[in-house]
Amino acid sequence: MTLLVAYDETESRSLTHSVRASALVFEDPVSRRLLDQIERIAPSDATVLIIGETGTGKELVARHIHALSKRSTNIFGALNCASLSENLIESELFGHEKGSFTGAHMAKSGWFETANRGSLFLDEVGDLPIGLQVKLLRVLQEREVVKVGSRQPVPVDVRIIAATNVNLEEAVAASHFRADLYYRFNVATIHLAPLRERPGDILPLARHFLTIYGERLGYGEVKLSPATELTLLNYDWPGNIRELENAIHRALLVCPGNRLRPEDFKLSSSFRHVETGHSVSTNTLETALLRLCEQAPPKLFEIIEETVIRTTFEFCEENQVQTAKLLDISRNVLRHKLEIYGMLPNGQRKVLADKEEFRVSRRA
Ligand SMILES: Nc1ncnc2c1ncn2[C@@H]1O[C@H](COP(=O)(O)OP(=O)(O)OP(=O)(O)O)[C@@H](O)[C@H]1O
Ligand SMILES: [Mg+2]
Repeated sequence: MTLLVAYDETESRSLTHSVRASALVFEDPVSRRLLDQIERIAPSDATVLIIGETGTGKELVARHIHALSKRSTNIFGALNCASLSENLIESELFGHEKGSFTGAHMAKSGWFETANRGSLFLDEVGDLPIGLQVKLLRVLQEREVVKVGSRQPVPVDVRIIAATNVNLEEAVAASHFRADLYYRFNVATIHLAPLRERPGDILPLARHFLTIYGERLGYGEVKLSPATELTLLNYDWPGNIRELENAIHRALLVCPGNRLRPEDFKLSSSFRHVETGHSVSTNTLETALLRLCEQAPPKLFEIIEETVIRTTFEFCEENQVQTAKLLDISRNVLRHKLEIYGMLPNGQRKVLADKEEFRVSRRA
């Protein structure tokens, strides 16, 4: 399911009311269930904690929650807690009075005030300095902020959407995160699965990014070759959707035609490419086979056998002795398979055909 929603695509730490069409891809059953959960949670005012590895779409989901809430006409503010020093975060969040610290030439509102009646996205909340956690807890409990250098509380009405890519329970156990703040955040929790655990999203997302970046680059229609689809499905995507997006963008820049080929992608070292032979793990192989089983193409065994023979033969630079040795099969068996799959050079094909005839006539 691809959702077209009203969105903005501005940088983190920006405030915006602007809307811009963007699509959310939720095809895999795991993602569809997640979307149901988001739609149930969004209209309430409950604090949300989004947990997910880097690049899994935490900010995008936070914006979607805001867009589906009754606060959608007000501001969505985003603050990355890992990017600022403790002093600066306090002033960014709660604001400061003029002269409250060196450089505070003017009074300034913090994010809580600016995002009043809207939503505030606190990204990488696990990196909040412990000293600030207690102040934030107070704001969440009292629903009022006190600016740096002031004693006057200001009432605020802000929905908090927090995100983390670290395990906050472990951070609590290690005393890096206050348990009371964790429970405040953890009212409604959304777990964003890594892309490798929702493979049904990979190709729809790849096509989605193909359309976006193809249009931006002014290209006509560009497609994925079947081998590329398999390559993308077999990759682990440690950087998740962001990595897929960048990979498609890069591939579009280098691909010479209107079809993205596996060689147009430079995937990181954890990539286990079925065509390179030496780094195949049986896990990856099993995953690829399971996907093929799901697709249930006709002549599945032939497809698999041909792929094994062709890939190994190419890997061994078409040397039959080495190919047979690597596959641990006899050279005769190999030659027979090469013949079936049309991979023998012409001259050898004839000799083999003659031998076959000879064998047949002897049997007869
Ligand atoms: N379901 C989706 N459909 C379409 N695009 C998506 C989807 N999820 C994520 N993206 C895109 O993937 C990229 C990464 O998403 P986002 O920035 O929300 O991830 P993140 O979890 O916040 O990453 P990080 O941990 O690096 O901050 C963005 O360009 C976003 O638009
Ligand atoms: Mg993010």
